[in-house]
Amino acid sequence: MANENHKPVIAILGGTGAQGSALALLCANAGYSIVIGSRSSQKALEVCKRISAVVKHANVSYEDNQIAAEKGDVVVLSVPYASQRSTVETVRAALDGKIILKN
Ligand SMILES: NC(=O)c1ccc[n+]([C@@H]2O[C@H](COP(=O)([O-])OP(=O)(O)OC[C@H]3O[C@@H](n4cnc5c(N)ncnc54)[C@H](OP(=O)(O)O)[C@@H]3O)[C@@H](O)[C@H]2O)c1
Repeated sequence: MANENHKPVIAILGGTGAQGSALALLCANAGYSIVIGSRSSQKALEVCKRISAVVKHANVSYEDNQIAAEKGDVVVLSVPYASQRSTVETVRAALDGKIILKN
């Protein structure tokens, strides 16, 4: 759901990667709420810490990819090309009616 500043929540599946984490940093810096989607809570926590260390008042959290897709208004697919199909299939039910972007 859009947060109180009326900006959509952006979920980034594979947000621990080079592309996804860079996008997360930019979006957090622009005031968006970010949910990092990952198969690894440890990796995702590290990304959240790195962003929070750089962006004052960053609104960044992490979930597994399924929950991240549910929480995002906009869902960015930023996993390697070879795993995009399987990742989408895993989270498909959460994507209805949402804007999906592919990195
Ligand atoms: N790197 C570039 O220069 C570049 C430039 C333009 C576009 N792109 C595109 O942007 C996308 C992301 O690139 P990237 O370099 O950030 O990718 P990456 O670092 O290789 O992977 C991104 C994340 O995807 C998750 N992942 C890896 N293997 C997976 C699998 N088998 N199933 C599900 N998730 C998996 C991992 O997250 P967890 O382990 O945390 O789940 C990983 O941190 C790709 O489609 C790529 O083609 C990349």
